[in-house]
Amino acid sequence: MSDSQIEYLNLTAELMSIRKRGDVPLAYVRTYGCQQNVADSERIKGMLRKAGYSFTENAEEADFILFNTCAVREHAEDRVFGNVGALKKLKHRHPQILIALCGCMMEQEHVAKRIHDSFPFVGLVFGTHCMHEFPELLYKSLVDGSRVFVRDNDDKKVYEGIPTCRDGKFKGWLPIMYGCDNFCTYCIVPYVRGRERSRQPEIIIAEAKEMIEQGYKDITLLGQNVNSYGKGLDPRPTFAQLIGEIDKIPGDYWLRFMTSHPKDCTHELIDTIAESEHISLHLHLPFQSGSDRVLKAMNRHYDRAKYLDIVNYAKARIPDVSLTSDVIVGFPGETYEDFQQTLSLIREVGFTSLFTFIFSPRNGTPAAKMDDPVSDEEKGKWFRELLAVQEEIAAERCASMVGRVEKVLVEEKAKKEGRLCGRTSGNIIVEFDGDDSLIGDFHNVRITQARNWILTGELA
Ligand code: SAM
Ligand code: SF4
Ligand code: F3S
Repeated sequence: MSDSQIEYLNLTAELMSIRKRGDVPLAYVRTYGCQQNVADSERIKGMLRKAGYSFTENAEEADFILFNTCAVREHAEDRVFGNVGALKKLKHRHPQILIALCGCMMEQEHVAKRIHDSFPFVGLVFGTHCMHEFPELLYKSLVDGSRVFVRDNDDKKVYEGIPTCRDGKFKGWLPIMYGCDNFCTYCIVPYVRGRERSRQPEIIIAEAKEMIEQGYKDITLLGQNVNSYGKGLDPRPTFAQLIGEIDKIPGDYWLRFMTSHPKDCTHELIDTIAESEHISLHLHLPFQSGSDRVLKAMNRHYDRAKYLDIVNYAKARIPDVSLTSDVIVGFPGETYEDFQQTLSLIREVGFTSLFTFIFSPRNGTPAAKMDDPVSDEEKGKWFRELLAVQEEIAAERCASMVGRVEKVLVEEKAKKEGRLCGRTSGNIIVEFDGDDSLIGDFHNVRITQARNWILTGELA
């Protein structure tokens, strides 16, 4: 982070020490969307903390309210518009608070315009490419009270040295790259996150080391397509080399990564997982559709055969591998026969779990202009059919684990009274009885029962 941005944080701290509503200036940060956004919010919180802010879960008492938004589907955008609208009364009651919006939605011109025209109580709007200027934007909005709108400044750089305030104490996100070059025809991400750029391997390895020393037990490397990590770096390391280097850091921890794009997923990566000490036995490999015709229309650059080749290689090299995926139902022009191909792929692979989405047209993407003759009602029926198939498969997979002893990272208290909740290396949820003091560490649990996609067990 530049010296001038650090200076703006100091100026904000001075200003807010006078203007705060309570004992300390309070910020309320709400994050929508994927882990990339969560990681961005953690950096924004890092900057806010340096500017003297503490954090609150209650927007009502905050001096600064920030929504970090997601544009991936219409539903995600609608939620943001609804929740921003609800802040109008709050701003009316406390005119001195600053309301700000950032993230993927704000990189879209029509969204920024709608916020500008219809939500006059929003004082600051900035897109994903302007995060490194946040201290300056914040200070300027606070000082002169005029509305600040900044977006679309993709200078293809990676900014380092931004402080991070992580939400978790033992599970953490570690971005290794930003943006996306793939332009899947349905997806808004390349338009709102800009071109792909990778962080230097030494910086990533040093951050991983620091997290492990701080006690992080579960570290997820983040990128829209981690398999193409290194593009533009000289010399160019492969993702397998990067993760292999991180794996050498001593300690008791799991290393995860997401997302892997099947077109760039190599046998080298799978060999690295198989031979590693810390990389979890989990591969999140979105296939999106089981039909070659639809995959081509989606611009995914792999076919069903290539996908199954990676899956079969992974199953052969990593016997306990847990596979998860993203899938879209109702892509424009998809027929019921195409959809049946998706179901047959799901059955053939045997996924532990799936993130399932109904196609949502995104303004400015090629798929939004494609003919889409299938009704929403019909797509809904297919969607429910897919969920029923996956439920059956997940239940079978979980049932096959009964009797085994699994290493589990204990994460929190389960909703059920007295129980603890954790995850296996394959990212499967396990509930068991135990003391709160076990939270945040690894423990062995004997699996005694499977309920759909959740396992129950007892301390071994
Ligand atoms: N980069 C990752 C990849 O290529 O698999 C995925 C990133 S995207 C944020 C997460 C998921 O959202 C995608 O895998 C896709 O299934 C889904 N998605 C993206 N755009 C969508 C759209 N327009 N409609 C429905 N689902 C969408
Ligand atoms: Fe979107 Fe495709 Fe990039 Fe993933 S790889 S972020 S689905 S364009
Ligand atoms: Fe949403 Fe942006 Fe992630 S559009 S899914 S928050 S990259």
